[in-house]
This record gives sequence, structure tokens and C-alpha cells, in this order.
Amino acid sequence: MKSIASAPGKVILVGEHFVVEGKPAIAMAVNLRARVSVETIDNSSDIIIRSKELKIEETFSSKHINEKSPLYPVYVAASLARQHISLEKGLDIIITSELPPAAGMGSSAAVAVATAAAVIALRKKVDRNIVSKIAYEAEKIVHGKPSGIDNTISTYGGAILYIKEKGFTRINLNLKNVALVLADTGMPRSTGKMVARVRKLKARYSSVLDPIYKSAEILAYEVAKALEMGDVKTVGELMNINHGLLSAIGVSTIELEHLVYAARNAGALGAKLTGAGGGGLIVALCYKKDLLNIENALSGYSKKVYIANISRRGVIIEHKHMHSMNGVE
Ligand code: MEV
Repeated sequence: MKSIASAPGKVILVGEHFVVEGKPAIAMAVNLRARVSVETIDNSSDIIIRSKELKIEETFSSKHINEKSPLYPVYVAASLARQHISLEKGLDIIITSELPPAAGMGSSAAVAVATAAAVIALRKKVDRNIVSKIAYEAEKIVHGKPSGIDNTISTYGGAILYIKEKGFTRINLNLKNVALVLADTGMPRSTGKMVARVRKLKARYSSVLDPIYKSAEILAYEVAKALEMGDVKTVGELMNINHGLLSAIGVSTIELEHLVYAARNAGALGAKLTGAGGGGLIVALCYKKDLLNIENALSGYSKKVYIANISRRGVIIEHKHMHSMNGVE
């Protein structure tokens, strides 16, 4: 039996970090995807995982499970999904991804979501709720205390306002004549470490930071309203303010600042870091007419500048191939 699933990466428009403490954040799925193919192995219960981009392969068997492997979270997703469909066979898993790893585009969540869906599809109809829950277990291993926004947006696609432990509401985007541009500092960072740093700062200065968290909460609701009304100027200005709040909690860097100011000076409606910060990417909201200018300005500071097209599609099963007991399809 074989199946292939794919899931999108994401951009957080506003609210990252604040979302870890129960405040709302807005995320959008993008048209860069992780793809996972799974094939059952007879006479074995091993899970073999290969990542084409990371150029690594690891076999997880009942005798040896390497918890230090970067592929361990994928193993956790695969093995929970295998339990869910009560399958005892081994699995041969191949991961390919268009998403830059450790840059803030949710590549680990997209891989976990696609893995869970591909394994479940071997035997059952894929229930998105279960896929997202399984991927969240894998995300906990990668990031420590994630909010769950990455696995949620990767599973459901589109644009969402997400609140930890409460779930999400869809945002009906009304964006005309604008595009999102991403630029990479080229500096990978660990979401888990950044989240832990912010939590420590929040615990130490809670009375100082509480109003900033409150402000981020109001800001996210205002952005959601402006997105639905097509008020792109307000969205841009609030993105700038959100960047300031993220700087205040210590997650910006000089490289991120260079990119943010380059985008704003070249005419972006708004620009901010996106994801965990400490490196990774910025996101800029731009009128399409200014796109070339802004891309050129960002290219001065970044080797990787992308246009992020919003994708309505969350996780999908791309291919399913079953053999009956006698090997005839
Ligand atoms: C990571 O994409 C976003 C953070 O808010 C962490 C999380 O929500 O789990 C930094």
C-alpha cells in the first residue's frame, strides 16, 4: 500500500509569540509545500524515514529509536498515525519539501501534517482534526511548548485567526492589488529556544510585559477586521506596530531590522519579522505596483526573497494506491 500527502507552510501575519500565552494570532498558508510518500513494508515493523533536502536517512525499529535524530518528530507523527489505523506493518517514508527549514515558514509542521495524513490514508478516510492533533505531538518535540498555530494552519489552509486551546476562525481575505513578500536573513534559528527566551522574559517582567501582550491581542483583532474589509493601509500599519512589540520582547535582530527598514523605505505598506525571530524571515505587505522596487531593495540584504501566494489548500492526499490480498489492485 502506498500513499502521498502534501501540506503547506505558513506565514504569520501578526501575533507570533503572543499566541503562546493565549493571545490571538493570524496565519496564512502559502503555496510552498512539504510532500510525504509512505509505503508499507511487509514482514517488518520498522519505520524508515528519508529526507531528500536534509540528505539523511534513519531507521526506527522496536530495538532502536534514536530520539536525538532530526527525523525523530517525523517518526512520532508516523507511529501515532500508524496506531490510529491499527496497522502493524513497517513504513518506508520519503520527505521532500519546498520550504526553507528553520526559517519561520512552518516546515516542521508541514512535514508532520503530511506524514500523519499519508499514513492515515493507507487505511482510513483522513480526519483533519486527528491529523492536526498528531502533528501537534511531533511539534512539541521540535519546539518544546508550541501554541499549535503551525500544525493548524498547515492542516486547514487559507487564513485563520488562531487562539491556543480554543481553535481557529477563518478570515475571509479581501486583499486586492497587494502581495506578501518574504525575505530570509539566512540565519537559521530554533523556535523552541526563542519561545523559551520570551517566556523567561515574560515571567521576569510580567507587570511590564502584560500590557504589551494585551496590545498584541487588540492588534490581532483589528488586523482581522481590516483584512476582511480590504483596508490594506491599516493592515500594514498594524504590522509595523506588531514588529515593534516583537522587538520589545527581544526577538528582533539587526539583520531583521535591516530587511524591515529596507522594505518600508522601498514603499511597503508594512513590514515585520515573521515566526519566532532571532533570524529567519521578514514579511512585507506591498502594493503590486511597488513589488519590483521592494524586491530589489530586499535583494541588497537577502539572498532569498520570495513572493508568498496564499494557498486555500491545507493538507491533501495526492495519491493512494492499494493492493488487495492477492496483489491485484
Ligand atoms: C512559530 O511559527 C510561532 C511562535 O509563535 C511559536 C508558536 O506559536 O508555537 C513563535
